Amino acid sequence: MIVGEAPGEDEDATGLPFVGAAGRNLTRLLAEAGLDRKKCYLTNVVKCRPPANRRPHPGEVAKCWDYLDAQIALVRPRVILALGSAAVRRLLGPGAFVGTSRGSGHPLGECAVVATYHPAALNRKRGRKDQVRDDFALAKRLLDEQRTASQGSPRVSEGQSQVGELDT
Ligand code: URA
Repeated sequence: MIVGEAPGEDEDATGLPFVGAAGRNLTRLLAEAGLDRKKCYLTNVVKCRPPANRRPHPGEVAKCWDYLDAQIALVRPRVILALGSAAVRRLLGPGAFVGTSRGSGHPLGECAVVATYHPAALNRKRGRKDQVRDDFALAKRLLDEQRTASQGSPRVSEGQSQVGELDT
């Protein structure tokens, strides 16, 4: 499962998560890590685009809190990749930072949360792309370990995993 911040303009227009420039970065990063985007459930912390693409306010995050919890409960992901500080704080707590949270899986119920920078922020800092690549590779490794531990039984079918595409 991939949790981003909020729909952008393209996502707002189509009703699909990660279909714009950030989405193209995301697809590339997933492929580089050996992960198939079609098998990922994509969603966001907030379900509507904040005006002028600003960060979601705490009240907006709170309004979408139960929705994201319900998505996680339904999908039952083995691993959640939290993209950017809004997702990292939503999933790991209000004091969490991407920089100090990345590098290991954090238990959340039945799954592990892997924190990383948002793919939209990749060009802002030198070396960040490599860190994000490492985080995606960690997510893949954790997923493989969990799959092996549960002898490959999928928790959701591929068809179900697409539902998130409709719910930004
Ligand atoms: N950025 C996000 O955080 N989510 C999207 O769906 C698109 C861009």
